[in-house]
Amino acid sequence: VRGMPVQVRADASAGAVAAPKPGTSTFKVAVLGAAGGIGQPLSLLIKMSPLVQELRLYDIANVKGVAADLSHCNTPAHVSAYTGSGELAAALKDVDLVIIPAGVPRKPGMTRDDLFNINAGIVRTLIEAVADNAPNALINIISNPVNSTVPIAAEVLKAKGVYDPKKLFGVTTLDVVRANTFVAQKKNLRLIDVNVPVIGGHAGVTILPLLSKTRPTVEFTPEEVEELTVRIQNAGTEVVEAKAGAGSATLSMAYAAARFAESCMRALDGDSDVYECAYIQSEVTDLPFFATTVKLGKKGVEEVIAEDLNGLTEYEKNAVDALKQELKGSIEKGVQFAKKQA
Ligand code: NAI
Repeated sequence: VRGMPVQVRADASAGAVAAPKPGTSTFKVAVLGAAGGIGQPLSLLIKMSPLVQELRLYDIANVKGVAADLSHCNTPAHVSAYTGSGELAAALKDVDLVIIPAGVPRKPGMTRDDLFNINAGIVRTLIEAVADNAPNALINIISNPVNSTVPIAAEVLKAKGVYDPKKLFGVTTLDVVRANTFVAQKKNLRLIDVNVPVIGGHAGVTILPLLSKTRPTVEFTPEEVEELTVRIQNAGTEVVEAKAGAGSATLSMAYAAARFAESCMRALDGDSDVYECAYIQSEVTDLPFFATTVKLGKKGVEEVIAEDLNGLTEYEKNAVDALKQELKGSIEKGVQFAKKQA
């Protein structure tokens, strides 16, 4: 099995399992915000991937040491450091994949939307540089609020004339990882077998785990559905409160982002059986952006699995209706921010 020695394969999510074609490609990857709480462990996991030829680490500070440290790991990826906006273009030149965990995280009492004022500007600046230096790259956005930062990125790419909606992703993998973990614990299932699609967005009630579509098939009481849904929606806050001011999820986020990045690279490499949930431009609802399962391919999103929205329970249907209002507002906020700055 190619890939990383952690559970990064998304085959279980697809139901279908096919042997990957032996890959021949390796990729150039840039991590923007690489010296941060997520950036460091994420960069370590990416350094372990045999699909990576070059790993470029960018941050506004402290990134030289991270790169020096990682460069001693005897895995093939070549690691280099880029500090400050003067080196951003070089960090991005012709990369295949850009992963963005730059920005400030939550402290207790904050919502993801409270981060908007700082992170919106950071994402805008970084995406402008991606547009100029790596217009064909797949872009994985981790910086919160993802519900707004992805629409901001889309507007910036449009203004630069290089927007390809198939290549822009908000990373919601952590919601799937959490849902899988909590459901497996609750139902005494083997973790590796469990997959719960999570749709909507990435904040509070916009995070909607489709427990009725859990694989393997499993029955939940209405009380279990309510309890698990609320726990999955608030799992980020569980970590924020436990860290008591020292930030939000970093290690589980790094794990989730590495899984998503590995899936992107496997798809670029020609594996035809790669499925992940992600927040993307989408027509599955009347909103312009929505997270569902997507099939990844050589050009990014190959297929949006609209089937996720069919056959929902009453609880899930109501939750979709309820989340749309908040998600719509977050999308509009992002679009307005980007247009105002243009
Ligand atoms: P952190 O504060 O530990 O690290 C952020 C890094 O970004 C720092 O190294 C900082 O120097 C860097 N940075 C700030 N401005 C920058 C700029 N203009 N260019 C490049 N780098 C810049 O924060 P942490 O914990 O790593 O979180 C990062 C982001 O990820 C936050 O917005 C957080 O809310 C988000 N997040 C997203 C999750 C998701 O599921 N999508 C889950 C957890 C966190």
